[in-house]
Amino acid sequence: MYHVKALLLGLILHVFLAETKANINGCHSSLLKDCNCGRVYRDQRTYFVVNCTNTGFQDTSMLEELPEETEWLVFTGNHVPILDSNVFGEDVVLNNLEIIDMTNNGIRDIRGKAFHRVMNVKRLILNHNNITISENDDENFHHPRVFSNFYNLEELHLTNAFADNTDSGLAEDLHDIFVNSNLTKLYKLHLEQNEIKNFKDEFVFCDLPNLHDIYLGNNNIPNVNFNINCMKRLRYIDLEQNNITKFTQKDLDAFDRAAQRHEDGLTLDLDGNPFRCDAAVKIFYGWLMKTKVIIRNKRTLQCQHSRYGTRYILNLTNFAEAKHARVSRALTILLVVLTIVLLSLVAAFAYLRKEAMKNKLSPIFDSITRKVHYTHIESQDV
Ligand SMILES: *[C@@H]1O[C@H](CO)[C@@H](O)[C@H](O)[C@H]1NC(C)=O
Ligand SMILES: *[C@@H]1O[C@H](CO)[C@@H](O)[C@H](O)[C@H]1NC(C)=O
Ligand SMILES: *[C@@H]1O[C@H](CO)[C@@H](O)[C@H](O)[C@H]1NC(C)=O
Ligand SMILES: *[C@@H]1O[C@H](CO)[C@@H](O)[C@H](O)[C@H]1NC(C)=O
Repeated sequence: MYHVKALLLGLILHVFLAETKANINGCHSSLLKDCNCGRVYRDQRTYFVVNCTNTGFQDTSMLEELPEETEWLVFTGNHVPILDSNVFGEDVVLNNLEIIDMTNNGIRDIRGKAFHRVMNVKRLILNHNNITISENDDENFHHPRVFSNFYNLEELHLTNAFADNTDSGLAEDLHDIFVNSNLTKLYKLHLEQNEIKNFKDEFVFCDLPNLHDIYLGNNNIPNVNFNINCMKRLRYIDLEQNNITKFTQKDLDAFDRAAQRHEDGLTLDLDGNPFRCDAAVKIFYGWLMKTKVIIRNKRTLQCQHSRYGTRYILNLTNFAEAKHARVSRALTILLVVLTIVLLSLVAAFAYLRKEAMKNKLSPIFDSITRKVHYTHIESQDV
């Protein structure tokens, strides 16, 4: 009897201790012992967060043990070159998972079906990785369906996500990825700092029917080389710090049309582009002054011009208005000259007329003068 009691007590104690140990960080799994799990208040609500930041993980095996209530996964600053199939395990259902943040993990390859059962994820963050999606099919894995299970994805963050040498391949493959991933709800797309130049396919974003905001800052895009007209919900384009020297009338018209389509209008970010100070920029300035498109920092946009090998950077507004001022100064001078000429002509005319009048009138003048003279003398005699 005594024995049984002691055994029972020991058992209970053992279970309790094991439970406490695994639960010490709220994660229910020893594999996740370096992470923090628990409720966090963010963006005006509470999330159940599993936070594995700088935990030194070399693979993702621990992610198969994510608690079912996980709403936000932070898995950042680890070193995981490959995301293998089924990162979250074969038969785990993470119905509550809304945010996956895998920033800065040195990820190179995302294999097919890596993300599975992520139907409720709204935000996927893969910033600052080294992803190659193109290149040789044998060595690197060309998976255009990489985001295909994110049926409800609203935000995709791919800032500096791709390896530096993937530029042309990346721009080519992006459309493939978007077509095959069926991202019908995608609202925000971040593609900053990816050294993007040319999109081989101008319809690259046309299969994202709900796209509202697109971030393309800090790339090398030289002009509007992607179709804007197909993005019916577009309301913001970030193109700052690119390589744009001018816009064509077609570009400006496309911006105007987009602004009319959306109830919020269209907002553009164009800071830090090397616009040329020339006739085209005057047209651009004229458009800036009258368009309904909202241009951030309109007054501080700059343009550049080179003279004798030196590059000058000018404020675009000052440049355009200085030209305008020069023209009106020239007009003023012209007007003054014309006025002087006109006045001289009038004066000359009056002078000539006066001479003619004088000749006609002089006999009368003379007789009057004489009369006055005589009268004067007579009176003196008295
Ligand atoms: C995750 O942990 C890191 C480091 O402790 C912290 O800076 C970050 O805010 C946490 N993230 C969330 C969503 O709680
Ligand atoms: C990205 O890959 C390149 C070469 O493939 C390598 O030199 C670089 O260190 C990698 N960067 C990171 C952050 O892993
Ligand atoms: C794309 O997603 C929608 C729902 O978001 C679904 O109705 C449609 O069948 C999907 N299409 C493909 C090709 O998977
Ligand atoms: C920017 O455009 C100029 C030509 O307008 C080109 O010479 C230069 O290489 C481009 N820079 C980058 C980083 O693509």
